[in-house]
Amino acid sequence: MEYASHPAFAEAQKLLDNIHQTQLNDAEKLEQFRIAVLGSKGQLKNLFARLREIPPAERKVFGQLLNTVKQEAEKKYQQAKATLEAARSSSQQHIPDLSMPGDPIETGARHPVSIVRKNIIQIFSRIGFTLADGPEIEDDWHNFSALNFPPDHPARDMQDTFFLSENQNWLLRTHTSTVQVRVMENQKPPIRVICPGRVYRNETISARAHCYFHQVEGLYVDKNVSFADLKQTLLYFSREFFGKDTRIRLRPSYFPFTEPSAELDVSCFICGGQGCAVCKNSGWVEILGCGMVDPQVLENCGINSDVYTGFAFGMGIERIAMLKYQIKDIRIFSDNDIRFLKQFAGAW
Ligand code: PHE
Repeated sequence: MEYASHPAFAEAQKLLDNIHQTQLNDAEKLEQFRIAVLGSKGQLKNLFARLREIPPAERKVFGQLLNTVKQEAEKKYQQAKATLEAARSSSQQHIPDLSMPGDPIETGARHPVSIVRKNIIQIFSRIGFTLADGPEIEDDWHNFSALNFPPDHPARDMQDTFFLSENQNWLLRTHTSTVQVRVMENQKPPIRVICPGRVYRNETISARAHCYFHQVEGLYVDKNVSFADLKQTLLYFSREFFGKDTRIRLRPSYFPFTEPSAELDVSCFICGGQGCAVCKNSGWVEILGCGMVDPQVLENCGINSDVYTGFAFGMGIERIAMLKYQIKDIRIFSDNDIRFLKQFAGAW
C-alpha cells in the first residue's frame, strides 16, 4: 500500500505489537511503560508529532492507527494497574501478624497401660517368649476348672466373677491364665509365651481396685524347667524393668494352679530399699504372683507331667504402671482425662 511507505507507519505498528506483547507484572515496569509510551516525551507523543510529515492523503489512516495504538496503550496500562492494585490489597489483607502464636497441633500420646505393656513384652521377647492371645469371654473350664479350681472351691471367691449365664458356665475372664490353658491345649512343649490382655472382676471400684484391668501372664513349659529358672527369669525381668540394681524376693503364696506358689517383691526402685511412701517403709514392693505349674494343670491340658514341668507368672499392668509413674488412683487409667494422658506423649 502506498501510504504505508512512510516509516512512521511501521513504527506505529511496531509500537502496537510491543504494547500487546509486553508484560506489566510489577509496579516498576508499569511506571516505565507509562513514561516510555504514554508520557509527555513518550513514543506516542512522538508519533503524533510526525503526523505533519505524512502525505495528506495518508494522514487520516495514520491518525486512525495512532488512535488505536493510544487506546490499546491506555487499556493495557489501566488493566495492568488494576491487576497490580488488586494483588497488592489482597496480599495486604492476608499478611498475618507474624508475632501471633500459632494454633497448636495436638499430637496423641500412648496410654500408660500400652506403654508398660509394650515394655514388658519387649523384655520377655528378648529371651524368647512369644505372644499369645485369647478371648475375654470365657467358659468355666478355661478360667477355673482346668486351672484346678474345683466347683465350690473357696479359691473361686478370690476372684469375684462377672458371670454371663445362669449356670455360670460363661463369664468374663478374671485372669489371663485362661490363655495359659488354651496354649497348652493347642501347642506341644517347649512352650514359652506371654499373654497380655484385659481381665474383669466384680469388685467395688476404688483407688486400688477396678472392675476391669490388664494383666500379662507368662508361661514356660519344657523338660527340666525348675524353680531356679523361674527365679532367674523374674530377676532378669525386674532388673530390665526397674533398673539394674533391683533385688528380688519371693514370698510363699497360694494359687490353685501353681505348686509351689509365690509372690514376687522387688526392692523399692524409688528409695532403693531405704523405706519411703511408695514401699510403705518396707523397702519392698509386690509386683506379681508366680509358681510352678501344678502337674494336674499340665495333665488337664494334655501335657505329660512325668516328662514336662513349667512355671507361670502373672502381673497387673496397671499396678506396675502405678508403681513406675507413681500414680495413686487406678481409676485415672479409665477416666480418659486428656490432662493425664498428655503427660505420656513421647514416652513410647
Ligand atoms: N492368675 C493369677 C492372678 O490373676 C496370677 C498368676 C499367674 C499367679 C500365673 C501364678 C501364676 O492373680
